[in-house]
Parts: sequence; structure tokens; C-alpha cells
Amino acid sequence: MPVIVFASSKGGAGKTTACVVLACELARQGFDKNIEVSLIDADPNQHSAAWAKLEGKPSNIRLYDNVTEENILDVIDQAQEQTPFVLVDLEGVASSAVVGAISRADLVIVPCQASQNDAKEAVKTIKTIKYGANIARREIPFSVMFTRLSAAIFTKTGKYLTQSFNEAGIDILKCSLIDREAFKSIFSFGGSVNALKTENKKEQISLDKAAKNSENYAEEIKRLLKKGIEQHSERSITNV
Ligand SMILES: Nc1ncnc2c1ncn2[C@@H]1O[C@H](COP(=O)(O)OP(=O)(O)O)[C@@H](O)[C@H]1O
Ligand SMILES: [Mg+2]
Repeated sequence: MPVIVFASSKGGAGKTTACVVLACELARQGFDKNIEVSLIDADPNQHSAAWAKLEGKPSNIRLYDNVTEENILDVIDQAQEQTPFVLVDLEGVASSAVVGAISRADLVIVPCQASQNDAKEAVKTIKTIKYGANIARREIPFSVMFTRLSAAIFTKTGKYLTQSFNEAGIDILKCSLIDREAFKSIFSFGGSVNALKTENKKEQISLDKAAKNSENYAEEIKRLLKKGIEQHSERSITNV
């Protein structure tokens, strides 16, 4: 079952947020079908584990915390056997745990804020993904995901970086994560953005937009995974 890994050598790029938001949305969409999502926290800072231990974690998210370089491959393999989606939140370094997780990935998301320094770190991370692909002796699909984008404008730097990634043949998710209070709040109050409550109309509009943003993000990831699986089976058929 698909393994989605969140990697970036930059701390603060938005890995944990992108990982937890996707876990919640996949869990919401799969709830009625008893679909479970594994959330593997392999960052010693344990930020996604701390979120999962707050009240409100969707019951169909299974947490694997305190995962280390010694057990990460076993934990991913075990989670993959047990749940249809496996999400891995990594530390902002290029450690053997990071390379190991990447070598098991069906898709690597590289969160990147729209700044030159983040883009440089994204390029470094892509080199690590290529190294992991070399070890695994297969292609590992990856996409940069812009995070913390302004809701109001797509900045000049954002446009420039998009063009640079395009010219380098690097895929960028169509869906970005917008900078919204809701995506921060879940780490204080627990649960998903859909569960956040407010009496204020303006705040409610913003919560609704965060929920819609999460939905579009999960839909795009599902489409990418499906495309990857189809391409893989096409290759397998031609290899027969
Ligand atoms: N889309 C977003 N909207 C608002 N705040 C965000 C968003 N993405 C990340 N943040 C904030 O940015 C900081 C770093 O994000 P985090 O996901 O922890 O990054 P990483 O896991 O890569 O270190 C956190 O304070 C987080 O709340
Ligand atoms: Mg993190």
C-alpha cells in the first residue's frame, strides 16, 4: 500500500504540517470505508506524534512514534501490510533514516516555502531522493509542494521558483498549502481542520477554505499515486 514520505533538509519547510493535514484528510475521506492511515513519526522532535497524542485524532489514524534509523524500515513494512496509506514524517536532515524511508517511498513530497533558501534545500533533498532511488534500483516519484503560500497573492519569488523548477523538469504539486491559522491551530488544539470550531463568521470562512485546501491536496495525491501505480503496472506488463 502506498508509502508517502515527507522530506526536506530544511527544518520549518512544512513537512509535519503537510503530513498531518494529509493524514487527517485521507482519514476523513476513508472513515466510512474503514480505511486506516498510518502516521510514522521518524523525527526525534516528535511533532506529529505530539499532535496525534492530543484529543481529536481521527480514530482511523494509527500512530507509530519514536521511530529510529534502526527500526524505520521494519516499521514502514509493518504499517504497509496493515493500512492502505502510510505517511512518514522525517527529520530535516539527510540521515540514513531519511534515505531508508525514501527508498521505500511510492511518492516523496518535498515541502518548500516560496523563498530562494527553501528552494535550494529542496534541490538538495531531490539529490537525496535520487540517491535513495539508486539504492532501491528503481525510480522514486517525487513532487515539490509549495507551503505557507499567501492566500492573497502569488509572489514574484513564487513565480520565479515555479519557472526554475519547471525548467529543471521538477514536478510541483498543483495544490499548495496556503498559510492559514487553521493549519497551525491543529497542533495546539488537536484533531483536523474540519473539527476546529469558531463563532466568528470571518474565521469560519477561513476554516472552510483550509478544509477545502486539504481536500484538494488529498485528491491530487490520490491521483498521483494512481498514476504511479498504473505506470508501474504498464512497465511490468511490457517487461513480461
Ligand atoms: N500552511 C501553513 N499555514 C500556517 N502555518 C504553517 C503552515 N505550514 C507550516 N506552518 C508553520 O510553520 C512552522 C514549521 O512547519 P512544520 O510543518 O513544523 O515544518 P517542518 O516539519 O518541515 O519542520 C510551524 O510553526 C507550522 O505551524
Ligand atoms: Mg517536522
